Amino acid sequence: MQVGLSHDAPLGVRAGALVVPVFSDTPLEGTAKEVDAALGGVIADALASGEIRGRLGEHVLVYAKGQPYRRVLAVSLGEHAKFEPYFLARYAGTAVRYLGRRNLDDIAIVLPEQARGHEALAAAMVAEGAITGSFDTTIYQAKPDVRVATATVSVIAPGLDQTEAERGIARGTILGEAVNFARRLAVTPANDMTPSHLAEEAAAVAKQSGLEIEVFDEARARQERMGSFLSVAQGSVQPPKFIILRYNGDPSSKELLALVGKGITFDSGGISIKPAERMEEMKYDMSGGAGVIAAMSAIGKLKPKINVVGLVPATENMPGGKATKPGDIVAAMNGKTIEVINTDAEGRLILADALCYANKLGATRIVDAATLTGACVIALGHASSAAVTNDDAFAAQFLAAAKPTGERYWQMPYYEDYTTQMKSDIADLKNTGGRPAGTLTAAAFLKEFVANTPWIHLDIAGTAYLDTEFAWQAKGPTGTPVRAFVALTEALSDCHPERSRKAAEPKEHPNGARGSELRV
Ligand code: BES
Ligand code: MN
Ligand code: ZN
Repeated sequence: MQVGLSHDAPLGVRAGALVVPVFSDTPLEGTAKEVDAALGGVIADALASGEIRGRLGEHVLVYAKGQPYRRVLAVSLGEHAKFEPYFLARYAGTAVRYLGRRNLDDIAIVLPEQARGHEALAAAMVAEGAITGSFDTTIYQAKPDVRVATATVSVIAPGLDQTEAERGIARGTILGEAVNFARRLAVTPANDMTPSHLAEEAAAVAKQSGLEIEVFDEARARQERMGSFLSVAQGSVQPPKFIILRYNGDPSSKELLALVGKGITFDSGGISIKPAERMEEMKYDMSGGAGVIAAMSAIGKLKPKINVVGLVPATENMPGGKATKPGDIVAAMNGKTIEVINTDAEGRLILADALCYANKLGATRIVDAATLTGACVIALGHASSAAVTNDDAFAAQFLAAAKPTGERYWQMPYYEDYTTQMKSDIADLKNTGGRPAGTLTAAAFLKEFVANTPWIHLDIAGTAYLDTEFAWQAKGPTGTPVRAFVALTEALSDCHPERSRKAAEPKEHPNGARGSELRV
């Protein structure tokens, strides 16, 4: 899909459809009002008829006979006072999904008046949403059920700063494509998306986005003493890969942000095998890793002034003849020994070595993302990811950066009690801590491998994929945490780390409830 800026006046634009924003609780304004007048009040009529009540993403189509735009799609942005810039991504996504599935390949989307003074941000959101709205999960169907056909999206910014809008479109396009890339990696089934294939995709990203790449095979990982990672891989016939992508955007700085993603290309549970029901979802268990690779692809193109390394330990978790058995003891890179009580708690085992390796590379900040625990889905459902940290100021900075993207993260506590739950009678640690606080004991386990580096763990088990669709988003993989990762790198590159850390000192509530700067 191609998203570009059109300098046409909204009423003169040639397109299959013109998309205009409306609010649920205020009269038509700006372009929507003008178009309504040109069409003799049909939009106002449609809204007055109660066809849509005005929730974000609700929409109504009217035909515009004799106009260069042949249809108008009014899409609601919800209540006027509750407007958030990321709603514009959902606005555009709704339009692309609705019109694209009706074979309209050429649509024009109008920016609302709220974009004034924030043209780059608004246009970025529209471009991102248009592109993510075009994603569907029918890639394996010979004749796809629902195909989003829209090929060209023109953004119209009437009376607004065109240069800024153009800049925003470029950024939003990069981000939207990265999100879709992560989704494609995630939705691709495990027979195709093996660790080797994931490493090849990462190599292609490195080439396109100008990143350095290194991929450790099993022998190389053994040299690094990644015994915890390799213990998960040993039950599978697929060779493990440890993927390292590097972006050096600030060579003069010693600061290094590590993004670490769980890359389990299929989680059968291993010898502690999972029940059959919904096991197919475990192809998504590499969503964190996909998010890292995709975020790195966007970072390479956006070129923020920061050094970032992306680490993805990739392996299947299978119950082969050589598989780890419950009770086996393995050692991670930092020498800590782990009693494997449950082979289905494998994510933390592969992340342990990846976190150690981040430290070995000299990371000064670490964020990991993982579909780590079913307990996280119990705690927060599909509405939010969980965030756990050893550094509240860093977490506040992350939450503030992530909030405007529309991805949700909710900070949960770390207490030493959780670490106590992870102590083994026979090794340094065990890999499960029983049922209480499953997300937090998993985080406490990971914390044993980050040393003193400021670190945030993101549990995306409930948010990486969804079995519900939205007006703006297909079912399946969501692209979480790509947007937040990219936003964090931009926030960190903004100013000197010490200053930005101070500025991020939590003022009210830790979960990003305080005000955040909106930037592009
Ligand atoms: N990949 C799963 C977690 C998961 C569950 C992700 C559901 C998405 C949806 C993880 O490897 C796992 O199996 N975790 C276990 C840990 C337990 C054995 C301590 C879990 O959550 O049951
Ligand atoms: Mn598991
Ligand atoms: Zn898993």
